Amino acid sequence: MSGVTDLPFRRLIRELSCGCAPLFVSEFLSTSGSGFLTPLNLTAARFDKEEEPFCIQIFGHNAEKLAGAALQVQELGAAFVELNAGCPAPKVANKGGGAGLLKNLPNLIAILRAIKASIKVPLFLKCRLGWDKSSICINEVLEIAEGEGVEQLTIHGRTKTEAYQGLANWNIIGEIAAKAKIPIIGNGDINSMEKARDAIKNYGVQGISIGRAALHNPWIFNPLAKIDARYAVLRFNELMMQDGFRPMQALGRLKQLCARLCSGMPEYRLKILRCQNHDEFLDNWANFSASAFSFPYSVGS
Ligand SMILES: Cc1cc2nc3c(=O)[nH]c(=O)nc-3n(C[C@H](O)[C@H](O)[C@H](O)COP(=O)(O)O)c2cc1C
Repeated sequence: MSGVTDLPFRRLIRELSCGCAPLFVSEFLSTSGSGFLTPLNLTAARFDKEEEPFCIQIFGHNAEKLAGAALQVQELGAAFVELNAGCPAPKVANKGGGAGLLKNLPNLIAILRAIKASIKVPLFLKCRLGWDKSSICINEVLEIAEGEGVEQLTIHGRTKTEAYQGLANWNIIGEIAAKAKIPIIGNGDINSMEKARDAIKNYGVQGISIGRAALHNPWIFNPLAKIDARYAVLRFNELMMQDGFRPMQALGRLKQLCARLCSGMPEYRLKILRCQNHDEFLDNWANFSASAFSFPYSVGS
């Protein structure tokens, strides 16, 4: 997730997961610059040995650039390259990238073909159901993916215009999984291991992709988690500092995480969001009551 699952955050997840960590996917990397991947992208593409096999995701609308970026990503050691055909952000989708690819399937084909020709590692595709409800094209996308040699398809069960509203449509994901010859990973609204297990059982998907719930509940992948959320936040801070984050940069990320962790505790949430600087944040956080943040508690559900 862009702006969320960077290296320090994934390190936190890994630590809190006590060995139950999932397959990690990088934040999506833009190919809209003049080269293939920009220096900023190269920072976002970093991963630890312990995260291997690691998947790096790229987005864009130009087949040649995407093929070049895919090769670069392979050379960085990614075990899998994933093309994003799901991002609904106007600055991405309206330019023809992300979910914009669902409006131009011939271009999607050209891109998949070009990437396949440039890399040896498996190519994954992540998409939504279609641009809007009147143009659901997930059946065609499956056919294209299988025809072009895509090795895994992750489906977020919403359209582009739905963005994050309503509930993901798992029935459609299940219909696709039932006829697909390649692994289908279901995505949308899974916020517990129980829901993940149920989705696998009920909809026949080969796996589950978890996004926002990892921010509400960074120990979601650990079935035996007994974690003090206050520790998790302080550890996240340490990991960012070790990675060279500036205090104000870290403050933004701490607020992002804590706003979710405190979503059921408006008083704490407000205090956190009002913090003007890093030190003020750390003072406040240290003074929050231990009992309010001891696991288990209801996080953003
Ligand atoms: C802040 C934010 C950033 C995201 N960035 C990406 C991204 O870079 N690549 C991607 O495939 N999906 C991205 N997503 C979408 C999620 O991966 C996921 O498909 C979506 O949130 C639905 O799944 P969930 O209900 O488990 O969150 C992002 C979502 C959010 C909220």
